[in-house]
Amino acid sequence: MQINQIRISCEINGTRCEDDIAPDLTLIDFLRSKGFLSVKQGCDTANCGLCTVWLDRKPVLSCSVLAARANGKAVTTIEGVQEEAEAFARFMADQGADQCGFCSPGLVMNILAMERELENPGPEEIRHYLSGNLCRCTGYASQMRAIDAYLAAKGGTV
Ligand code: FES
Ligand code: FES
Repeated sequence: MQINQIRISCEINGTRCEDDIAPDLTLIDFLRSKGFLSVKQGCDTANCGLCTVWLDRKPVLSCSVLAARANGKAVTTIEGVQEEAEAFARFMADQGADQCGFCSPGLVMNILAMERELENPGPEEIRHYLSGNLCRCTGYASQMRAIDAYLAAKGGTV
């Protein structure tokens, strides 16, 4: 017998969400169908980082995770960390790193995850952590200046 729908129950940015979904639905398509259009689709092959969200506060590539994996878990998109994202965006703007912005939601989710996971990361650790977040506009130098300034302002060392 073919299973056409499965029921999942999760939290998205602190709000309970229950739905019947196709077993092969990806997390990114699930989130975008719920209106979370901040979650961007780039490569769709786990290579660009644009689709990064958190699953139980750990960053995942939502193009490569089934929505069914969110069952019983907490999903966070950039809307769920809006104040922190806006604070970081000011550093991006100061450094001229806010160009087309298409990569920004995924990058910000990974930077905020890195901040929680690594204590006082150095430049190499930062580059390694963010190596999966591609950007076609900036060449990364302005982004790295923004990250350095943001972490320094928050008391971390770079
Ligand atoms: S769209 Fe998911 S990694 Fe590129
Ligand atoms: S700012 Fe355009 S892709 Fe990164």
